[in-house]
Amino acid sequence: MTDNIAGKTIVITGASSGMGAAAARHLAAQGANVVLGARRADRIDTLAAKIIDAGGKATSVTTDVTRQDDLRTLVDTGVETYGRIDVLINNAGIMPLSPLERLRVDEWDQMIDVNLKGVLYASPQHSRT
Ligand SMILES: NC(=O)c1ccc[n+]([C@@H]2O[C@H](COP(=O)([O-])OP(=O)(O)OC[C@H]3O[C@@H](n4cnc5c(N)ncnc54)[C@H](OP(=O)(O)O)[C@@H]3O)[C@@H](O)[C@H]2O)c1
Repeated sequence: MTDNIAGKTIVITGASSGMGAAAARHLAAQGANVVLGARRADRIDTLAAKIIDAGGKATSVTTDVTRQDDLRTLVDTGVETYGRIDVLINNAGIMPLSPLERLRVDEWDQMIDVNLKGVLYASPQHSRT
């Protein structure tokens, strides 16, 4: 099941916590080169350092998925470092919860920017490589 992961280069957005960070640790342990993106640079830098200390390959790039330029830099860094991108895990996301009648329109806008536009911005960056 996992014998085709080693050597693959995998970009993961939202790699600073939760499922993104867990996927990064797991895939790096299987031999993948992981390219970590998120806004909290300290967290992805620390995670990349831990993966490297454990014998894996990891690179971190501060990335806000609502910014197309950040995603371009994330993918370009992966290509420059490892030669190609094989997989993009479009994981970055937020899930603000509040009753609709509270009209937290700023949260709706942020959710659409991250969960929808962020995925749309990231996907063509992967296919560009
Ligand atoms: N855990 C669950 O049970 C569950 C269930 C259904 C769906 N989901 C969804 O799956 C995704 C991951 O869940 P999780 O539990 O791992 O959440 P999490 O621990 O809150 O992680 C979310 C990740 O998204 C990143 N992120 C948020 N906004 C970003 C932005 N503008 N640019 C770049 N990265 C951004 C965060 O990094 P920074 O803050 O450092 O940028 C963080 O690394 C989320 O979309 C969540 O809503 C989770």
